[in-house]
Amino acid sequence: MEGYRLNPLLSQEQIASIVQGLANQISKDYTGRELVLVCILKGAFMFLSDLIRHLQIPVQVDFVRVASYGSGMKTSGKTEMTKDIEIPIEKKDVLIIEDIIDSGRTLQFLKDRLALLNPCSIKVCALLDKKARREVEMEADYLGIEVDDLFIVGYGIDFNEKFRHLPEIYYVTPIDHAKE
Ligand code: IMP
Ligand code: MG
Repeated sequence: MEGYRLNPLLSQEQIASIVQGLANQISKDYTGRELVLVCILKGAFMFLSDLIRHLQIPVQVDFVRVASYGSGMKTSGKTEMTKDIEIPIEKKDVLIIEDIIDSGRTLQFLKDRLALLNPCSIKVCALLDKKARREVEMEADYLGIEVDDLFIVGYGIDFNEKFRHLPEIYYVTPIDHAKE
């Protein structure tokens, strides 16, 4: 990508240890329960796939796609579900798997929608959290790590559909040609 620099934020080893820690906590808390993981596409696909491999309990997996209009580094705050869950969640425990919490609007929208289906509980597991950017009240029940107000890519997370494949996590900064 011309005009942008990728700066390392979390290595593969750091991510693996965060994910292992989350998987241990979740396995402990949901032992003996009927847990459905609801992964928010597309950003959380890599996080989900690593997380489930470290769980010591059986789970079901489903996916939603929640689009907020806008591209690049800005979203408009308008949210729409373009792919719904397919597994029944009534009387089951739901854990939403999210890559990164920003304004909190995506999760607020999804939690409200899933609540209409009468699950036993709905909690949130997020890999990253930009707490400084919050516009609505939203807390992850399981959080990997809080990050500064940076634009993040890699490990499933994109910038205009690029960089999802990177195994590490980076933050993007514009290259100031005047200073180089
Ligand atoms: P929210 O609804 O504002 O909390 O935004 C959450 C969604 O915006 C996440 O699921 C991400 O897909 C996307 N997002 C938020 N911050 C970043 C970022 O730094 N890089 C890439 N995508 C982001
Ligand atoms: Mg995204």
